[in-house]
Amino acid sequence: NHKAFIFDLDGVIVDTAKFHFLAWRKLANDLGFDFTEEQNEQLKGVSRVESLKKILKWGNKELSEEEFNRQMAIKNENYLSYVDEMDKSEILPGVPKVLDYLEEHDIPFALGSASKNARTILKKIDLYKRFDAIVDGTDVSKAKPDPEVFLIAAKKLNARPENCVVFEDSVAGIQAANIGEMTSIGIGDKKVLQEADHVFADFTEIEIDFIEKLLRNKEK
Ligand code: G6P
Ligand code: MG
Repeated sequence: NHKAFIFDLDGVIVDTAKFHFLAWRKLANDLGFDFTEEQNEQLKGVSRVESLKKILKWGNKELSEEEFNRQMAIKNENYLSYVDEMDKSEILPGVPKVLDYLEEHDIPFALGSASKNARTILKKIDLYKRFDAIVDGTDVSKAKPDPEVFLIAAKKLNARPENCVVFEDSVAGIQAANIGEMTSIGIGDKKVLQEADHVFADFTEIEIDFIEKLLRNKEK
């Protein structure tokens, strides 16, 4: 009946959300159109396939299956060229303090990400071994806002969903946590993440007091 924490990766632990944006935008530009940062919010937390479908719709483009797959591969290669340069200095400020606290107090925590690159990134930033469980885009069949990724993580941590706290920067991820009956903590803009139970601009705004309060809460 213990508490457990689940962290999204992109935009929560590291700022790879900006690399996804750059890589998708290049793809769109190469196909002859553009999209805005506001539209990009709809891509956060969304799988690679679903993201490309949305982008093509915005640009009124249709691709053959072969070309669709080719474009996804190009995007990923471009994205990975940014990831290649990453090291642990890219861990966002305030994140280590929270992970240290959880470890010191034996609170289990997992990664819950839609990315198929999550394990690569965790290794690059030297956090791979610290998670009690890792659930990523290679482990799930349903994309956020489906709660599958978080429910699998909860199970791996032996925690009941209502005892789980989820940190997310995406609208789809906050919805997934809420549908899963978990406590949802938004990292980002309050106006964008208004469905979250709590929102912080970033982890430096999260005090240990707040973490302790979450741990005492019976339910959300
Ligand atoms: C995360 C990001 C999305 C990305 C998805 C799939 O959820 O927020 O922007 O599209 O993962 O990532 P991948 O690394 O597998 O392309
Ligand atoms: Mg994210």
